[in-house]
Amino acid sequence: MKETFYITTPIYYPSNKLHLGNSYTTIVCDALARFNRKLGKDVMYLTGTDEHGQKISLAAEKAGKTEKEYLDEMVADTKSLWQLLNISYDKFIRTTDPYHEKAVQKIFTELYNKGYIYKGSYKGWYCTPCESFWTESQLVDGKCPDCGREVKFQEEEAYFFKLSEFSDKLLKLYEEHPEFLLPKSRVNEMVNNFIKPGLTDLCVSRTSVKWGVPVEFDPKHTIYVWIDALPNYITALGYGSEDDSLFKKFWPADVHVIGKEIVRFHAIIWPAILMALGLELPHRVFGHGWLMFGGDKLSKSKENSKVECIDPRVLVPLYSADAIRYFLYREIPFGSDGNYSTEAFLNRFNSDLSNNYGNLVSRTFSMVKKYFNSVIPEGSALTDPDDIALKEVVDREVKNTLTYMDELDVTKAVTAVFNIFTEANTYIQKVQPWAVAKQEDGQARLKTILRNLLEVIRIGSELFEPFTPTKSRQVLDALGITDKVFKNLDNFAGLTAGQELKPLDILFPRLDVNAELEKLGQITK
Ligand code: MSP
Repeated sequence: MKETFYITTPIYYPSNKLHLGNSYTTIVCDALARFNRKLGKDVMYLTGTDEHGQKISLAAEKAGKTEKEYLDEMVADTKSLWQLLNISYDKFIRTTDPYHEKAVQKIFTELYNKGYIYKGSYKGWYCTPCESFWTESQLVDGKCPDCGREVKFQEEEAYFFKLSEFSDKLLKLYEEHPEFLLPKSRVNEMVNNFIKPGLTDLCVSRTSVKWGVPVEFDPKHTIYVWIDALPNYITALGYGSEDDSLFKKFWPADVHVIGKEIVRFHAIIWPAILMALGLELPHRVFGHGWLMFGGDKLSKSKENSKVECIDPRVLVPLYSADAIRYFLYREIPFGSDGNYSTEAFLNRFNSDLSNNYGNLVSRTFSMVKKYFNSVIPEGSALTDPDDIALKEVVDREVKNTLTYMDELDVTKAVTAVFNIFTEANTYIQKVQPWAVAKQEDGQARLKTILRNLLEVIRIGSELFEPFTPTKSRQVLDALGITDKVFKNLDNFAGLTAGQELKPLDILFPRLDVNAELEKLGQITK
């Protein structure tokens, strides 16, 4: 049986405006999903929407719509954005899907029957936009520590999950499975900020929130949104339904990719729920950093007036989804915060995509056209020191890319792919094919050089395709490569000699940075 790879994004709040910041998680997961498909794995890439809670009711009311009408529109909008960004998810779950609601009820009842949930009364500070309860000491200047907004004191009859029983088990988990929570710095945050001060039992039901999944055995209570949301990772696979074959096939997840502000839900509450249910834990939880804009988080709760400037709906039609995707992979060191600036984006577009990758492809294709009528030349054994050196760099960077992707480091991986393109451009300068073409007995050497270059473009484009699926596929198509999985990454013998290259448009036409800045300034005024 094929090896499986199960990757998830968080399920999105449909009331949040989607911008580059929150699209980041999904864009990153997409490269990982595509890469693993190309490794020949059976991939399940899950995303979806988190549709319950007071915040949704309020947003629907404000829009003068029922929750259902409001949500359907927002979900359609989310899906169309994922399409625009070329997101290849395999399944989209909505927490209002009836199969999910039923399974969540079952999970809640099972936790209750097993003694992990009990009835009590809740007193605490609630932040509506974040759907989070806070203790007095967690508040910052009396406000929500996550978003800085006003919190409300609430007291009500509620069910509690015995989270306090899991401290030792969680510490053991982090110790025995250092790969469970990545990057490693997040472990210290969890231990020092939450586990050491003492985990308290978690309030997991509300009587005041109507838009939620009712508790099966006490329907005046609705299930707390996070207890409704987290299990999406298993209900989407049919857990708690009649057909759990996907669950059996894909669970445990290979990785949950999430932003750093929701690590505590995924690294504390989620494993505790799974332990209580007696289920296996996900292999890895990766808490990535934030995309910042002028030093400010593109926030989920705070209003951000500058959001239009980084609206993918504006940027994609102008510069392509590939270019936006590439910028995020490359510029934000995966796991850390990173800044988005339009200028940096435009400069990288020119230096990396246009001058490096694009130029390598177009100059190689035009030389093959000029000297060999666009017919792929025969290769030969690599004996020339320049050829051997090129092959060594390619081999090294192929290995690096595979290792980094295995470690989920999309930034290092994409940088390794670019080392291949850079090396190929250096090789051209070194071997000077145009000079070889002028030599009387230069034909054989010229063939080898151009064949080598085409092979390097093939290997680089194979590795680059998960990041820039449209343009790299165009290059691979032009080279006559139809395989969906990686092949011949370790040799210069993947192309068919005698086959004609298909014509290829300029991949990333160079931009006039000042003119583009001016144009974007007008659009986003
Ligand atoms: N609904 C919860 C997740 C429940 S999962 C069981 C949620 N949704 S969200 O819509 O607010 O966030 C979706 C994703 O966007 C999260 O991974 C979040 O970290 C990410 N981001 C939101 N703003 C971001 C940036 N400015 N930069 C990077 N990622 C950020 O949380």
